[in-house]
Amino acid sequence: MISRRITPLAGILVGSSLLLVQPALASPPALSPSAVSPPVSQAEKKPVAEGSGGAVSTVDLDASKAALGVLREGGNAMDAAVAAAATLGVTEPYSAGLAGGGFIVYYDARRKKVHTIDGREAAPKAMGPASLEGIPFDDAVTSGLSAGVPGSVAQWELALRRFGTLSLRQALKPAIDVATKGFKVDQTFYDQTAANAARFKDFTSTAKLYLPGGAPPPVGSTFRNPELADTYRRLGRLGGEWLYGGALGAEVVATVKKPPVTPGSTRNVRPGLMELSDLKAYRALERPPTKMTYKGMDVYGMAPPSSGGSTVGEALNILEALPEVGEHEYLEASRLAFADRGKYVGDIPGVPLGELLSDGFAKERACLIGERAMPHPAAPGDPDGMYGPCPAAPSAEATETAAEGPETTHLVVADRWGNVVAYNITIESTGGNGIVVPGRGFLLNNELTDFTFGPAPGDPNLPAPGKRPRSSMAPTIVLNDDRPLLALGSPGGSTIITTVLQILVNRWDFGMSLPEALAAPRATQRNTAQTQAEQAFIDRYGAELTRQGHSLVLNPEIGAATAVEFLRHGRLQAVAEPTRRGGGSALVVSERR
Ligand code: DON
Repeated sequence: MISRRITPLAGILVGSSLLLVQPALASPPALSPSAVSPPVSQAEKKPVAEGSGGAVSTVDLDASKAALGVLREGGNAMDAAVAAAATLGVTEPYSAGLAGGGFIVYYDARRKKVHTIDGREAAPKAMGPASLEGIPFDDAVTSGLSAGVPGSVAQWELALRRFGTLSLRQALKPAIDVATKGFKVDQTFYDQTAANAARFKDFTSTAKLYLPGGAPPPVGSTFRNPELADTYRRLGRLGGEWLYGGALGAEVVATVKKPPVTPGSTRNVRPGLMELSDLKAYRALERPPTKMTYKGMDVYGMAPPSSGGSTVGEALNILEALPEVGEHEYLEASRLAFADRGKYVGDIPGVPLGELLSDGFAKERACLIGERAMPHPAAPGDPDGMYGPCPAAPSAEATETAAEGPETTHLVVADRWGNVVAYNITIESTGGNGIVVPGRGFLLNNELTDFTFGPAPGDPNLPAPGKRPRSSMAPTIVLNDDRPLLALGSPGGSTIITTVLQILVNRWDFGMSLPEALAAPRATQRNTAQTQAEQAFIDRYGAELTRQGHSLVLNPEIGAATAVEFLRHGRLQAVAEPTRRGGGSALVVSERR
């Protein structure tokens, strides 16, 4: 469950427009703290909701309710997104949390402009290109060494300051309520705890919180996290400085440097390199979004350190250059875009984003796609601005098939003013690095395992001081004539990119409705020898794709997407997964027709 580089998968080889009226105000008036988190009537978890006045889609009912409560009380999409993210830190603590990071893509309706906020974790100053060399991946996952400088709190503060109306204290209130009163343990929470039990028990703080009485809390029981409620309360009062250089930061550093290993544990837990100065130096950053045009629609995504925007965008450009698009073309375009991602994208200066997203480059790449699957592995192209006739396909070094679980999380919020947030949040592995900061109720991330471990000369994703590991997170907003059409995203490591791409292709090329596009069976080709696919995809397309030279292997579940589509006459359709990862929660402010 935790390992990405070891692949234990069972191998089955088979041969509209937005019509919301803009208000006179830039944003709604600030709320009083007590005004937030009212009861919400839509009590059930359901994957599709249609209506008006605002919409939310998350993987979790409590988080969706938190966001809906903020919207109903007059908060805007950014307020609601931060409230939902903090609530996911309570109810989905193995995927999200204040010690993690994430990316926000935001559509500002009044200015008709897309912004992004990079809250990605950073390597400490003491980390260099060789710091992860020779360390077994699984050892790195559960270590202090893999903990990046957390980005979420700085991102929440920047997001609220720039685009929200609530204070951090107000935005944290719904999460504090859920952490205090508790939430019902569902099968997903139980399964994730059970899958992590062997390492959770190796840390005194983690075992105390998540293995009460030595076992995962049973399905149906109420799980409370009063320590996290207290941490959020203080964070609201003291602000991000408490973490970025203050006493909470000192506790994080102490935990990273000397993880609270259970006496008698034989686990080799490597200490981390993080110092309080690294926390003091951390900043969430606004960055220009990636942008490309697909069939006349503008697709905005996340720029480096994420590879999400450039890889989704390049694959769409390649598809647009082809005479027709089917499952074969979807897989091949993705294969090529991943070859380029591996060579060119990382948190480094000079990523050739413009060329990677150019029509000329896409055409040059598209002409490599024939009727049969191309030989593995596809070599990266040359995004040099000089695009001629089809180049011969050179071969490249083989890469390993990586299995990626549906960890991490994504949420979408739209408000009555037409502002939209697509937000990916992560602590990397399910359960992050497995280490709870004693007495504080939250897990640390293991995001630095997203770096290339090396040695790999020239790799754009080797660690360096302060560098952010390359991500695949791909929160995406699609506009038509500067108005939102669709916002979407997913968890799943590098399968995030293919899940977002596949949903867009399902919706725009195959003519599915948004709920159908999310529910449809998935496959993921990331320049790997085999294409991972869900069973229903193999059943439906396996024979034909095998004839075309593809080799499909089972991945039981790919992604856990959330999306909102902007229908005619100001109506919104919020969509979450119907079944994957137990199904998600879609809500709208008003369900009236
Ligand atoms: O940033 C990334 O791409 C990953 N750390 C996201 C983590 C995730 O989706 C978990 N999956 N393996």
